[in-house]
Amino acid sequence: MSDSIILGIESSCDDTSAAIIKGNAILSNIAANQAIHKEYGGVVPELASRAHQQNIIPVVEKSLLKANIQQNAISAIGFTRGPGLLGSLLVGTSFAKSLAMSLDVPLIEVNHLQAHILAHFIEDANPMPPKFPFLCLTVSGGHTMIVLVKDYFDMEIIGKTIDDAAGEAFDKIGKIFDLDYPAGPIIDRLAKEGNPDAFKFNKPRLENYDYSFSGIKTSVLYFIQKEVKKDPDFIKNNLNDLCASVQKSIIEILMNKLEKAALDLNIKEVAIAGGVSANSALRKAMQDNHEKLDWNIYIPKFEYTTDNAAMIAMVAQLKFERGEFTDLRTTATAKYDL
Ligand code: KG4
Ligand code: ZN
Repeated sequence: MSDSIILGIESSCDDTSAAIIKGNAILSNIAANQAIHKEYGGVVPELASRAHQQNIIPVVEKSLLKANIQQNAISAIGFTRGPGLLGSLLVGTSFAKSLAMSLDVPLIEVNHLQAHILAHFIEDANPMPPKFPFLCLTVSGGHTMIVLVKDYFDMEIIGKTIDDAAGEAFDKIGKIFDLDYPAGPIIDRLAKEGNPDAFKFNKPRLENYDYSFSGIKTSVLYFIQKEVKKDPDFIKNNLNDLCASVQKSIIEILMNKLEKAALDLNIKEVAIAGGVSANSALRKAMQDNHEKLDWNIYIPKFEYTTDNAAMIAMVAQLKFERGEFTDLRTTATAKYDL
């Protein structure tokens, strides 16, 4: 891998992030979260875009400072072109274009979903990078899919959600429990003190490798409505058990399809990626399959799971080596296939 120094910029949702990569080693990975969305129980696109505008310059400056790099040492600029919220993507895209123009360096567009997967090739993401072909369960607030990764830029989605994403299910069910947004990490924490077998919720029955999470959300909602009529404090009195049971159901749904795909395709290299891969029960289920099914498992370091610019810089580095540059007339795109 070349030793080039590349700046990566991520602004697809509600995290403004900038990272510096040298070869595949991350020198800095800075992120500014947007606390404002908590008040609304979800990301408000207009507010996200405005916060990106405020954050982008300080975040990029911090990434350079932390990496101890001068602007003129940068060989290229990578940015998330999509998929994501258009107003958010536009901030990072416009900034990346202007900086590439002023520094006279190549601009490199990055697909956010590809980046979640290729984050596994960052030097300190794993003790060893995955070997092709591998399966990657990509689970975030916006996406849930099983991807067959044949090569760096040769990926095939073999299964995906037909409705909600797994992270969205965590967040929406958390809302029913009156938890803050994003509820995924809170449910994970509360589940540690709960009984995962306390309550049972409906599981989807889909034929292939596709997922569905709207059923479990509705099943939890009806169950809670029924119980709260009998005991107004039902949620409060059972919060840990509720969280543990919901988490167990969601992780079982995710793992069943992943196991089926691994078996059918005879693949033992299995990775997870995206925000939900921070979940402790999912990580444990992967570890169990390493022992039971002899999987070689790849679980990225926590800082490379949720949205971050390190993964954007990693993909930009791979594209830089291949001479894959983007025209300065490019624009952001909300939809962007793998
Ligand atoms: O990848 P990400 O940062 O942003 C998207 O591209 O969506 O993922 C955010 C999602 C949120 O839905 C959040 O609740 C979920 O990841 N999440 C978790 C955990 N940490 C983050 N879900 C379950 N357990 C966690 N520990
Ligand atoms: Zn993401």
